[in-house]
Amino acid sequence: MNPAGGPSAVLTGLGTCLPDTVVTNHELASALDTSDTWIRSRTGIHRRHLVDPGTATSDLAVEAGARALKSSGRSSVDCVVLATTTPDHPCPATAPQVAARLGLSGVPAFDVSAVCTGFLYGMAAAQGLIAAGTAERVLLIASETFSRLIDPTDRTTAPIFGDGAGAVVLRAGTPDEAGAVGTTVLGSDGDRADLIVVDAGGSRQRTSRRRADHFLRMDGPQLFRQAVERMAQATSEALHLANWQIRDLDRLLTHQANARITAAVAERLHLPADRCPSNIAQIGNTAGASLPLLLAHAVRTGQLHPGHRVALAAFGAGLTWGSTTLCWPELTVLEDMQPQP
Ligand code: COA
Repeated sequence: MNPAGGPSAVLTGLGTCLPDTVVTNHELASALDTSDTWIRSRTGIHRRHLVDPGTATSDLAVEAGARALKSSGRSSVDCVVLATTTPDHPCPATAPQVAARLGLSGVPAFDVSAVCTGFLYGMAAAQGLIAAGTAERVLLIASETFSRLIDPTDRTTAPIFGDGAGAVVLRAGTPDEAGAVGTTVLGSDGDRADLIVVDAGGSRQRTSRRRADHFLRMDGPQLFRQAVERMAQATSEALHLANWQIRDLDRLLTHQANARITAAVAERLHLPADRCPSNIAQIGNTAGASLPLLLAHAVRTGQLHPGHRVALAAFGAGLTWGSTTLCWPELTVLEDMQPQP
């Protein structure tokens, strides 16, 4: 039983998918007024994976979801939750198609939109479904083709973002089991929505003559400050709810927005930097997919072991933020899969 009275959500599968195409900083710098040195030193990013034309968010989601199901050892779930900012279409949601392509037609399936915090908002939704008895097993996928929102000629955003997907399977269990997810702390601040936004394409402004309105614009320095503050605060709250001290924490996995943001969060929490695995160098900021991709990276590189006490923290547009905790379970994590459009 969890504090809400129902079963806890226990992590039992993990899978990922990265597109084939890799774009290095040097390749970007050949077409943009930027440099490998600037991007590395200001963000920690060396390269990113980008989807080819014709590949959609659902294509990445299906592959990551299939891997997570395989890793969990079972092909069935009772619900599919898809966290994404880049659905295949404005209408309908993408999750039902992903469920159908995974052979899960008939189960409830819905999208969650919380941008870079999408995985944690989806996690809270999955926990609620399990605690309420609506589902015993939930497939939570975070999939983003964020490059679709980026103006490739804008040097302030093009180097930052990459595409990818990660997925987990959660099953009903007890809070003392390895893999049981603690209370998920979430927050939002819509008064600061303007700090990172795509102006056109929604009901406020369906289309715009201004090309820039269809692409993401952001206030990097303001977001930097908010990201550090919100992720540090949310992590402290999640640790408090788990009854853990900071010294109990083996790993803090933060949303990969900027290597300097991760370092600043660790510093603010007085956590040694070597407890914060990072894969931003290899894949950049993959928005909602960032945390499950980082979990898989940390397992594959031997930085995350069964029994480790882990906190996850994310921050993103909205603004939104969140954090949760878990003890890392025994899990088979397969190699990355490439998308099949
Ligand atoms: N290449 C070279 N120069 C660049 C550049 C690029 N790709 N992008 C910006 N610059 C320039 C700016 O024009 C500015 O020049 P100026 O001093 O002559 O005005 C200078 O570099 C510094 O810009 P600034 O935006 O202050 O840099 P920064 O150190 O804050 O780094 C970010 C910019 C975006 C990397 C950083 O602010 C960040 O990561 N913010 C958080 C972003 C985020 O979290 N976004 C999504 C939420 S998940």
